Amino acid sequence: MRVAEAIAMRLSGAHIVLGVTGSIATYKAVGLASALVQAGATVDVIMTEAATRMVQPLSFQAITHRPVHVDMFAPWAETEIGHVTLGQQADLLLVAPATANTIAKLALGLADNLLTTTALAARCPLVVAPAMETAMWHHQATQGHVATLMRRGVTIIEPEAGHLASGARGVGRLADEGRILATLARLLAPQDLAGRHIVVTAGGTREAIDPVRFVSNASSGRMGYALAEAAVQRGARVTLISSVTGLPTPLGVDLVPVESAREMHDAVLQAIRAADALLMAAAVADYRPADVASQKRKKGNEAWTLRLVPNPDILEAVKGEKPSGLMVIGWAAETHDIIENARSKLERKDLDIIVANPVPQTFGSDRVQATLLFRDGTIVPLEPLSKVALANRLLDLVVEHLRRPRRGAENQSQT
Ligand code: CTP
Repeated sequence: MRVAEAIAMRLSGAHIVLGVTGSIATYKAVGLASALVQAGATVDVIMTEAATRMVQPLSFQAITHRPVHVDMFAPWAETEIGHVTLGQQADLLLVAPATANTIAKLALGLADNLLTTTALAARCPLVVAPAMETAMWHHQATQGHVATLMRRGVTIIEPEAGHLASGARGVGRLADEGRILATLARLLAPQDLAGRHIVVTAGGTREAIDPVRFVSNASSGRMGYALAEAAVQRGARVTLISSVTGLPTPLGVDLVPVESAREMHDAVLQAIRAADALLMAAAVADYRPADVASQKRKKGNEAWTLRLVPNPDILEAVKGEKPSGLMVIGWAAETHDIIENARSKLERKDLDIIVANPVPQTFGSDRVQATLLFRDGTIVPLEPLSKVALANRLLDLVVEHLRRPRRGAENQSQT
């Protein structure tokens, strides 16, 4: 599996201890270790004795290019690497798959093998991804231990429902690899947007002509999705108002699907009421067909003239209803006079920042050569960046902006 850039960015350079226990799902940990390594993480694998019955340690060693640890009493090749230091040097300890037996030991604080001993000595976040038969998962004992771990701040990646090794269907399958990686990425990201509500729009709106045709534009929506994913990783509550159909919704994001500019307009005005920032990355269609046919228009030989009428400008509507303190970032997609056009949009739409992009180069591309224009007149040309990197740059600015005392609040404290 190719690891998505937004996730790889967080995992790259991280030191992860992967604890593998003996389950039918043990083989899935090989793929997981491979994904982590491909993302640029350093992975130290600790296997329980039972896990070695399912998969050979050599498989993990070949993938991680590091020795695999099994035996608590083995003389360590390098004396500084022991169960204590392994857990203390790591950024994160992930147990996947975690059996009911290991979960019980972790909850009770037992330390009868290298993995449980390491977990007890570790100071980094512990993440547990259980995998077992449904009855074992639902058993009061297991649920009690899971609750204990959660109370202690352990992150549990709940097992999924589906086909189990016994042939039955039920809850107990190891969580999907993408979900595990996204959880790790979130835990490794700075939580500088925790407690914040960020509203993001994405995609080119679709303006219906008839039930099967629409007017739209070439926007892929990838900028908005990168922003939503990065913001959720950084701890924000994210509302993604999107007209995109082909992109997976990033985990943890609240999706509000829309089609037309008018639907997006209503959704945005609703969502900003309790938001800290609006990132308006959508390419909103400026016009829509004046009349929408209720039935599919049949083909004919004569020319077809489509009459278009203007759509509402969402950012101009936001300007009139902006809650105090809402930070607003807009985009300017320009083919010419990029800076002048962007500056006039920033002023007309009362934005804090506008991201000026040359089009059509930006639409559908992975890299963007953007210039940022700020309310105070500052202009910052950026180097070519991926949409994920640009998303994080913009969120850095959101964090900085939201940390500043609000003008209203300042006045209040002076009176
Ligand atoms: N925008 C909006 N509502 C519209 C059109 C655009 O809120 N009806 C927002 C976009 O999401 C973007 C910013 O306004 O953040 C600028 O969009 P852009 O298409 O570059 O500019 P327009 O205002 O549409 O002007 P023009 O098409 O003349 O360049």
